[in-house]
Amino acid sequence: MEFNHKNNAKVLFTKEKIGQYWNDLYKHVATCLDYHFILRLESSAKIITENFPKDAKILDLGCGAGVLSERLLAAGFSVDAADMSADMRELTTQRLAKFDANKYKIFHAECEKLEIADSTYDLVACIGVFGYIDDVDKALSEINRVLKPGGTFIMSIRNEDNRNIFDLANLFKFVFYKLPRKIFKTLTPTKAPHTSNPSGPGPGTATPLANKFFIDIFDRPKDVIKLINQFNFSAIEFYGLGYGPLQFNGKTLLPETMAKGMSRMLSSVVRVCRLEKFTKWVADISIYVFKKH
Ligand SMILES: C[S@@+](CC[C@H](N)C(=O)[O-])C[C@H]1O[C@@H](n2cnc3c(N)ncnc32)[C@H](O)[C@@H]1O
Repeated sequence: MEFNHKNNAKVLFTKEKIGQYWNDLYKHVATCLDYHFILRLESSAKIITENFPKDAKILDLGCGAGVLSERLLAAGFSVDAADMSADMRELTTQRLAKFDANKYKIFHAECEKLEIADSTYDLVACIGVFGYIDDVDKALSEINRVLKPGGTFIMSIRNEDNRNIFDLANLFKFVFYKLPRKIFKTLTPTKAPHTSNPSGPGPGTATPLANKFFIDIFDRPKDVIKLINQFNFSAIEFYGLGYGPLQFNGKTLLPETMAKGMSRMLSSVVRVCRLEKFTKWVADISIYVFKKH
C-alpha cells in the first residue's frame, strides 16, 4: 500500500477545490471546526509574538493563504511564507500585499526537500500541514536542517483522542468493550506473544510501510511527540484547543451553533478551573512546540 497524501494535497489546495475555503474560513466562523481553526491561528500567533524577538528569522511552511504570516507581519515581525501550491501562494501574495515588501518573501517549497541553506531559521511553523506529507521522516529532517541550533519548530494537527471522547460510539466502545478487555488482560497474566519483530511496530502512528513514519491529520499527542523527538528535537510545550463536536459514528449530533457554543463553554470552564494540563490531551487541536537539539 502506497501513501498518496501529497498528491491528494496537490489537488485539494487549489482554487477549484478548498484553496478559497482556507482563505475565507478565518472571516466567517460558521462551524465548530471553523471556531477551532480560529483558536489555532490566534494561539500560534500568540506563542510566536510573545516568545520571539522581532528580528527572529521565521519560516511559515505550508503557509496556505498566509493567515499566520499576516498576523506576524501585523505584529512587526518579518516572515518567509512558503507553500507547494501555486494557488495558495497567490492567495498569500494578495493577503500580504498591504505590508512593506521588504518584510516578507513568498516562495515555493516542499517540506520534504527544502531548497534552503542549513541553519537559516530561528523558527519554522507548520500549521495544519503534517497529515498531507508522505515522507514524514524526510520532512522532519529537512525542517531540522534549516533550523539554527536551538531553533524552534511549531506544528499543529488535530487530535484523534478528541474524536475518541466526543464521538459517543467510540466512547461506548471504549467504556463497554476496550476498557473491560484491558482490565481483564491485566488481571489474567499470559505468556508473551511471539512476534516476528521483537521491537514491535515503529514509534508514532503504526504505518503500513516498513521503516516509514506517518503523522495523520488526526493523531494522538503521545505518539506525535514520541515520533518527532526522534528527529533531533525535544518537545518543550504542548497545547490543546477546542472540544468536540459531539458525534455518533462520525455524524454530528448538535447544530453547528450549539456545537460551537459547547466548545466555547468547555474552553471557558477549563480556563477558569485551570484544567488545561489535563484536558489538552483530548482537545481537538494540538499545537506542539519543539526545540532543535
Ligand atoms: C490545511 S492548509 C493550512 C494552511 C495554513 N498553514 C493555515 O493554517 O491556514 C495546508 C497547507 O499545506 C500545504 N502543503 C501540504 N503539503 C505540503 C508539502 N509537502 N510541502 C509544502 N506545503 C504543503 C498545502 O498546499 C496547504 O496550503
